[in-house]
Amino acid sequence: MDGAVAIVLAAGLGERMNAETPKALMPFDGTTVVARAVERASGCSSVSNVIVVAPAGWEDAVRTLVEPLGVSEIVTGGATRQSSVSAGLSLLEGVERVVCHDAARPLATAALFERALDALEGWDGVVPVMPMIETVKRVRHGRVEGTEPRESLALAQTPQAFVASALRTAHARAARDGFEATDDALLLERIGFRVRAIEGERTNMKITTPQDVRLAEALASPNGSRS
Ligand code: CTP
Ligand code: MG
Repeated sequence: MDGAVAIVLAAGLGERMNAETPKALMPFDGTTVVARAVERASGCSSVSNVIVVAPAGWEDAVRTLVEPLGVSEIVTGGATRQSSVSAGLSLLEGVERVVCHDAARPLATAALFERALDALEGWDGVVPVMPMIETVKRVRHGRVEGTEPRESLALAQTPQAFVASALRTAHARAARDGFEATDDALLLERIGFRVRAIEGERTNMKITTPQDVRLAEALASPNGSRS
């Protein structure tokens, strides 16, 4: 099969981070959040091309960070993650497989990209998941209302791999229906495409708050060895 294209989603504003720059441009482990995510994506031998979706007004700043990594395709994102993915998809031509990855998960390994793309054979989409290891409570206004059977629940991660035509169809249908989701797999699930779950990575955490940056850096360089 031909090489896959990775779309790295970096167009969010990082409002929960309360920083001056969008989350993807923040310093991280001696580099930046977006550069580390791009490095991991392009480190996957099945990925032949990387597209980075940047926040409006920050395209040149993102370009400066990722060009040294050999990535020059930058596209302006939209107001929602879903519209940012659509912007990335609009650049694709003649590509069979796409892998969508949140820059906010800079610790995902190249091996996870590889496993997600390998697992796509015979499926429409692949999502890495982690089992729920804690007991899951339903809580409303501080009162515990119940406990969920955690065996059937899993936490979704990126990179998520897709047959390009299925992802395109799923996005077009969602746009038509006015349906908005926080990941791409759901857009396929809702219209009956077959999405496979594979094992994610425990260290593939999503950076959302300033505390997450410190946690993720500790995971990236556990001995504080970064320069
Ligand atoms: N994302 C994007 N375009 C958007 C919103 C999000 O490309 N309009 C990307 C983010 O850059 C991030 C990923 O989608 O890599 C997951 O989004 P999230 O963690 O929610 O990031 P932000 O939207 O930036 O953060 P917040 O919700 O706190 O504003
Ligand atoms: Mg967000």
